[in-house]
Amino acid sequence: MEGEPMHLALDAPDEASHLLPVYDQLGIEPVEGHGVRLTLADGRTLLDFYGGHAVALLGYRHPRLLGTLAAQARQLFFQSNAVPMAIRERAATALADFAPPGLGNVFFVNSGAEANENALRIALRATGRKLVVAVEGAFHGRTAGAGAVTWNARWYGFPRAPFDVRFAPREDLAALERLLARGNVAALIAEPVQGVAGAVALSDEWLRGARAATERAGTLLILDEVQSGMGRCGAPFVATAAGVTPDLLTAAKGIAGGFPAAALLLSDALARSLKVGELGTTFGGGPLACALIEATLDAIAEQDLVAAAAARGERIRAVCRVGPVREITGRGLLTGLRTTRTARAIQAELLARGILVGTSSDPHVVRLLPPLVISDADVDTLAAALAELPA
Ligand SMILES: Cc1ncc(COP(=O)(O)O)c(C=O)c1O
Repeated sequence: MEGEPMHLALDAPDEASHLLPVYDQLGIEPVEGHGVRLTLADGRTLLDFYGGHAVALLGYRHPRLLGTLAAQARQLFFQSNAVPMAIRERAATALADFAPPGLGNVFFVNSGAEANENALRIALRATGRKLVVAVEGAFHGRTAGAGAVTWNARWYGFPRAPFDVRFAPREDLAALERLLARGNVAALIAEPVQGVAGAVALSDEWLRGARAATERAGTLLILDEVQSGMGRCGAPFVATAAGVTPDLLTAAKGIAGGFPAAALLLSDALARSLKVGELGTTFGGGPLACALIEATLDAIAEQDLVAAAAARGERIRAVCRVGPVREITGRGLLTGLRTTRTARAIQAELLARGILVGTSSDPHVVRLLPPLVISDADVDTLAAALAELPA
């Protein structure tokens, strides 16, 4: 019930650990990573089709990331936004060049939720409106604002939402138009591919229709590409592929190849609405994060990883509809395998065969978020393992 106090149901305390047992963890302990393979504490090796929730974009032990990290750490470990830094400028330029045109203004933060929180705040202030529309099934993070636009987020609920929110059904442009019709909606926020929901892709038609409808209503469009961006879906961002330029776009997860970092990109008009002191963060835009963002974008370009993501995504769709897999959803390497038996069961069976995959909030969708450097042979290994599983 809305407004009810939340009770965390923790596991019985483990005497040996000081960590809160708030995660339902897999019973494996990775101690080393190389390429797309993890070595476990017990010596086993796993093929990683989950990439630490889409974060290990370039896989593990990528030479460019290691070299950049060491060099930047030696040169300057940290300085804040109180001072200008060439590396921050370079990272912003590289990211703006990678993003859809029209989003040339960058604010670096630390996590997807923080990026969304800032995007929402900018939209509410810029429009002076008090209502936000999100999409059914959405996941935008665990802070107050990001949680308010997350579907069914009451499990980590704050006592009340910081602004009013309505949810639009997926793919229904008429319903969206009705929600926007009163002219009181500050922003529509949407993930072009809903990751946590189970790799549910919103169509290009819906994205384009939503762009047109928000423009007509004076509503800002925020695309949350925290999971779908950085080349994962076979285009730099899904917005690029759909030919849609949002007013604000958020990116995180693999943006720095595994180092904590995130970014908010915005239009010139919105950038002009911001004054000194209106946004802030201590760690965001630090030199290590920025050096690794630049290095990640360089590696994506040099290794042609956007095209690789598209090709591996196609391969998954061509060969993985076997065993318990009934349908393949998502885009590129943000992929859902809809399975006859529960995703949990399939995950355990694949783990026993040396392959790590994820689940989602849909109990019948296995989620694949592998590093973009995964090979066709790795995809075929997954397909062969799936084919061995009972349908
Ligand atoms: C689409 C999307 N938005 C936002 C977030 C929140 O990102 P973070 O956990 O970095 O705050 C996530 C995390 O899974 C996500 O998938």
